[in-house]
Amino acid sequence: MDKPKVVLGVSGGIAAYKACELLRRLTESGHDVRVVPTDSALHFVGAATWSALSGNPVSTEVWDDVHEVPHVRIGQQADLVVVAPATADMLAKAAHGLADDLLTNTLLTARCPVVFAPAMHTEMWEHPATQENVATLRRRGAVVIEPAVGRLTGVDTGKGRLPEPAEIFEVCRRVLARGVTEPDLKGRHVVVSAGGTREPLDPVRFLGNRSSGKQGYALARTAAARGARVTLIAANTGLPDPAGVDVVQVGTAVQLREAVLKAAPEADAVVMAAAVADFRPATYAAGKIKKRDGQEPEPIVLVRNPDILAEISTDRVRPGQVIVGFAAETDDVLANGRKKLERKGCDLLVVNEVGERKTFGSEENEAVVLGADGSETPVPHGPKEALAETVWDLVTRRLG
Ligand SMILES: Cc1cc2nc3c(=O)[nH]c(=O)nc-3n(C[C@H](O)[C@H](O)[C@H](O)COP(=O)(O)O)c2cc1C
Repeated sequence: MDKPKVVLGVSGGIAAYKACELLRRLTESGHDVRVVPTDSALHFVGAATWSALSGNPVSTEVWDDVHEVPHVRIGQQADLVVVAPATADMLAKAAHGLADDLLTNTLLTARCPVVFAPAMHTEMWEHPATQENVATLRRRGAVVIEPAVGRLTGVDTGKGRLPEPAEIFEVCRRVLARGVTEPDLKGRHVVVSAGGTREPLDPVRFLGNRSSGKQGYALARTAAARGARVTLIAANTGLPDPAGVDVVQVGTAVQLREAVLKAAPEADAVVMAAAVADFRPATYAAGKIKKRDGQEPEPIVLVRNPDILAEISTDRVRPGQVIVGFAAETDDVLANGRKKLERKGCDLLVVNEVGERKTFGSEENEAVVLGADGSETPVPHGPKEALAETVWDLVTRRLG
């Protein structure tokens, strides 16, 4: 089978160097990538780098290899065009249909999905001209990833940073697999928790669990791709922030509860995918607990942590809100899941079997989504993203 053809457009932003990693990810995962930089982009990263990494020729303008009509062919043959970074200038040109170099010509001839990953200073991003250009491109069906918040070119920080290449890659992979899907969560705010809480014993030790956060991140990423405003409450994941998602970092179950209670009143749906510790050590030693010669260690006394899922399901802070829980079970998976669903009072419960080498940290999952209405939706073994899509399908149906 032919490799999917991806055009990587690179415009002249300081983040152009990050597109090298995106290029690597695309080529290493079996895509045939043609890099089309702008002249400005070549001030940041040279043509030799793009050509060597992609294995394809590189040019910026329509006058090279004219016999091959590259200004038309490259766009026509593409399965996906991704522009990363997309400058304010490139967004403006694309929105207005300008065609004064090879990349802008390619954008006009492409009939495949197009993804823009803008990166610029906050002022440029927030300018009404840029915002209108972004709205125009989105209305025409392009995927424009929200820039991340963080360090910009100099010492300043703010919104406008290029999302991590791994996250842009995930968006590309999703768009290639599914095309540009209807933004059926547009106008909705969803809260997703992910990762595993850590309950400290002393300044260096904690009680934790094996949750990697990958399922929660897949939920956040897919909700953003379906148009939702997403707040991701992340506990100890070490994963890059998903593109276009507001991330709140927490450590313990008590901190996770605070963050959920703060975000939930505004949310249309809350999905609790984080593995929240049921118990925490009753006491916290301010200094490292020492080993003493000839003495047995003190037993660790545990106290219960708050049950966040039950709390938000019982005291619904917003009418019509859909609440989804996760149950990680090692045995009697479905029976225990049904009991948990009743006990917690949530609308949906994703039940999956876990173990040392099962689910945790893996890229794949298999589950049954139980509904409070008695429904059962099996999700076969597959990428965590597929399970995430099913969860959002079920949530959207309940949101009406
Ligand atoms: C050091 C430097 C960094 C720049 N970074 C950005 C940027 O991150 N985003 C942006 O929109 N423009 C940035 N610019 C301005 C663009 O390079 C300029 O608008 C250029 O005309 C864009 O051309 P292009 O869209 O054809 O690539 C930067 C310019 C310089 C000199």
